[in-house]
Amino acid sequence: MHTPDDYIAVFDSGVGGISVLRQLRRIMPQENYLYFGDSANAPYGSRSTEDVRRLTLAAAERIFASYPVKALVVACNTATSAAIGLLREKYPEKIIIGIEPAVKLAADLFPGGRIGVMATEVTLREEKFDILAHRFDTQCTVTRIPAPGLVQFIEANRRDANETKAFLRQLLAPYIGKLDALVLGCTHYPFVKHNIQDILGPQTRVIHGGEGTARETKRRLRLAGLLRQGEGKVIIKNSLGDPEIIRLCYELLG
Ligand code: DGL
Repeated sequence: MHTPDDYIAVFDSGVGGISVLRQLRRIMPQENYLYFGDSANAPYGSRSTEDVRRLTLAAAERIFASYPVKALVVACNTATSAAIGLLREKYPEKIIIGIEPAVKLAADLFPGGRIGVMATEVTLREEKFDILAHRFDTQCTVTRIPAPGLVQFIEANRRDANETKAFLRQLLAPYIGKLDALVLGCTHYPFVKHNIQDILGPQTRVIHGGEGTARETKRRLRLAGLLRQGEGKVIIKNSLGDPEIIRLCYELLG
């Protein structure tokens, strides 16, 4: 049986899921959080779907074996696309929340608009994304923008490095003035949102999806009677076992 004091585990391939943990803490500061990033195996986004499944299942097993966990938030679009079904099958008694690119939010804000979705190769090629995009592509134009290589800059704490900015300028040059909204469909990307916004300019709204995931987590915990009172805490773990990556996570958490 779970109790409200059990942890909300938040999982990502690396430091990206901290952008979701920020949203979770904003609306549920009284909860206990366990964050696990698999930076030793990041990036997931250019791997085979099989690999992402194997790594995600292994991470979940490690998390559930180490801490009492009342809910698992898969704060990784790539792991959600490849493995959320398998996780729910394997742990039917757990609350498991995934994340998906906020295409619905963008379509609601810009009916008939031009929407870009920047995400990893795995996220954009999986069936889950096809289904999501097809729900909106009669009303909107949905353009897929894979960004292989970007996650590594963020994992290396190089968010504002000249190389990172040059990478983004080259990636986004074809879209300047051509998008109403750009959805950040990878939880790492909000950490370079300011650079993306500078390149695209004010005519493009840059959107990310962590907030919806946080609200859904709260809704599910309330339904299960598992919301916690009092002061919450955060534990951060990472498969790299390097104090620098833990320090980076706290810096990103703010
Ligand atoms: N942060 C992850 C996501 O939301 C993936 C990053 C990676 O490629 O490992 O998709």
